[in-house]
Amino acid sequence: MDRTLVLEYARVTEAAAIASSSMIGRGDGEGADQRAVTAMREAFERVNARGTIVIGEGERDEAPMLYIGEKVGPADPDLPEVDIAVDPLEGTNLCASGGPGAMAVLAVAKKGDLLNAPDTYMYKIATGPEGKGVVHLEMSPTENLRALAAAKGRRTDEMTVVVLDRPRHASIVQELRDAGARIMLITDGDVAPAVATCIPKSGVDMVIGTGGAPEGVLAAAALLSLEGEFFGQLRFRTDEERERALKMGFLKDPDKIMEMNDLVRGDVIFVATGVTTGHLLKGVRRIGDYLHLQTMALRSQTGTIRFVETQVNARRFPFQYVGRL
Ligand code: FBP
Repeated sequence: MDRTLVLEYARVTEAAAIASSSMIGRGDGEGADQRAVTAMREAFERVNARGTIVIGEGERDEAPMLYIGEKVGPADPDLPEVDIAVDPLEGTNLCASGGPGAMAVLAVAKKGDLLNAPDTYMYKIATGPEGKGVVHLEMSPTENLRALAAAKGRRTDEMTVVVLDRPRHASIVQELRDAGARIMLITDGDVAPAVATCIPKSGVDMVIGTGGAPEGVLAAAALLSLEGEFFGQLRFRTDEERERALKMGFLKDPDKIMEMNDLVRGDVIFVATGVTTGHLLKGVRRIGDYLHLQTMALRSQTGTIRFVETQVNARRFPFQYVGRL
């Protein structure tokens, strides 16, 4: 993939972040999501690639979506074709409540290189590079914690594990606490801490538990570049969800524990722009006339990690034009 696309797609998440930032703390998640979607869709028009959304905002939260199968970008047959996974506002509730860690995120790969994940749940584990060949979803959370601590040369009470604060995770949290781990419970947004496992200064060692399947693929796309470890297993709530996954044709065995390669492969771009400040990124801040943004941009082919600081003159880019950045 053309490497200049990295910064082109960074403009897309910047646009979505700016658009949704006007709704931070306003208690209107749907409105914030809608703004992010509209800005993202418009910004795709300015990227020189013909994209197909393979992972969009799904039926799970009935959000206004960039739907699966939607074509984005100019319809020029000479442009390269790419598959795109988007979450225009990862952590809708976080944005609505002004909580930490909402971001606009997407991943791009050559056609067929991203799992067309159904909009269901996924049991997942994410770690930094030390977890390679060490952790596995076949192991219990405690076994994973101990194995990762050993690989990092630490005691289990020196390990921080991020878990979504949900009743379904009560037993995972209990067993990890019993094993001595520090638990960081988050209300939403499991992509950012998964990526943060690969950023030593973040203090996050492992993310484990069940969250969105689309978010799992997005996290895996980042971890591919960062050489972290990721496993995911789809968790269906109904037979209908399982049927739909089978019909998507990508998965022969929907219950398989998927490795990184099953989720994402090849030359992949991952970009995320902070909406509210969190584990990974600073959120959108207004300082004088400028909106200050921070974007993480990754490319798996080289493994380059970019943190891009952008200042947008808010007077010259009113919100209805954010897609034109
Ligand atoms: P959105 O992008 O739809 O806001 O999802 C936020 C999120 O917290 C994800 O990060 C997480 O994977 C998923 O929702 C968890 O789902 P649920 O809230 O249904 O437990």
